[in-house]
Amino acid sequence: MIGPVLRIDEVLTTFPAAGTRIPVVDHVSLEVHAGEVLALVGESGCGKSMTALSAMRLVPKPGRVESGNIQLCGRDVLALSVSEMRAMRGGEAAMIFQEPMTSLNPVQTVGAQVVEAIRLHERVSFVEARKRTIEMFDRVQIPDPEQRFGAYPHQLSGGLKQRVMIAMAAAMRPKLLIADEPTTALDVTIQAQILELLRELQRELGTAILLITHDLGVVNELADRIAVMYASRIVEQGERVDVLASARHPYTEGLLRSVPAAARRGEALHEIAGVVPSPSEWPAGCRFSTRCDRVESRCGDAVPTSTQVAPGHTVDCFVVADEVAQ
Ligand SMILES: Nc1ncnc2c1ncn2[C@@H]1O[C@H](COP(=O)(O)OP(=O)(O)O)[C@@H](O)[C@H]1O
Ligand SMILES: [Mg+2]
Repeated sequence: MIGPVLRIDEVLTTFPAAGTRIPVVDHVSLEVHAGEVLALVGESGCGKSMTALSAMRLVPKPGRVESGNIQLCGRDVLALSVSEMRAMRGGEAAMIFQEPMTSLNPVQTVGAQVVEAIRLHERVSFVEARKRTIEMFDRVQIPDPEQRFGAYPHQLSGGLKQRVMIAMAAAMRPKLLIADEPTTALDVTIQAQILELLRELQRELGTAILLITHDLGVVNELADRIAVMYASRIVEQGERVDVLASARHPYTEGLLRSVPAAARRGEALHEIAGVVPSPSEWPAGCRFSTRCDRVESRCGDAVPTSTQVAPGHTVDCFVVADEVAQ
């Protein structure tokens, strides 16, 4: 396939509130290329999940994607029919969530659910799909896969349920896997195992991964590129080394201030003074201006757009843009 597996271009997703529509994804653009891991990071509520849900056309009503363009495996997501989109989901593009319980049917065995998912997308017999499910369970290191095939979700630990979700996703051999905080609900040791699995999947199957996380250790270990979100917008994006070692946006700098110590798994992002303003409290102009230690009066004039600070490394900040221009 030519071009990125996922291309999001100037996407605007909104929810109605107080007679207006609030942007939860505000003109976001990003690309995930074949075989790479793009980490989408930022504090809670900044729009990471909504970005992923927009890409999969899963934004819950009354939210909606208002404008922009989304290309998934070369197809125009916003133009696909409902059935084409359903075929895409769980086929070429799969998604796993923080809380696997909510994505598994509590009254059906996990094996049957994976079999069903496979047979929804491929014409294979039950016996063949069952064989493949057990192979996948084995591959994601679910112990006693034959026996676990017949288990119900509530009989499995959180870590095992997440392995089932990964097995289900991987059985489809997706080109893109969106993993939304896949390890947040798990113990630290289990987190490490799940991340190792994702890495293997990415290497062996060449699956591109959009990894949503607020865990710097995860970013450090898995990401090829990083996109940093703040108040519904991407404020910095680039190769992992560029963003981690040469962050330019004051927000990213703040997040990373404690990196050497925090670059261990399980550590949350460094706290920045103040709280993320809710959409009704967004300042005019740059939304980070109320918390920014480099704020200038012009920062209130307009929302900054992207400036390239190095090849493939962009920053949305007036102050940085001036530094680059000099
Ligand atoms: N169902 C909903 N209705 C209205 N607003 C929502 C809904 N779901 C999420 N939001 C809002 O969208 C914004 C982005 O949320 P989300 O993408 O879940 O953030 P993140 O994943 O980065 O924590 C938040 O301000 C949140 O309150
Ligand atoms: Mg989220």
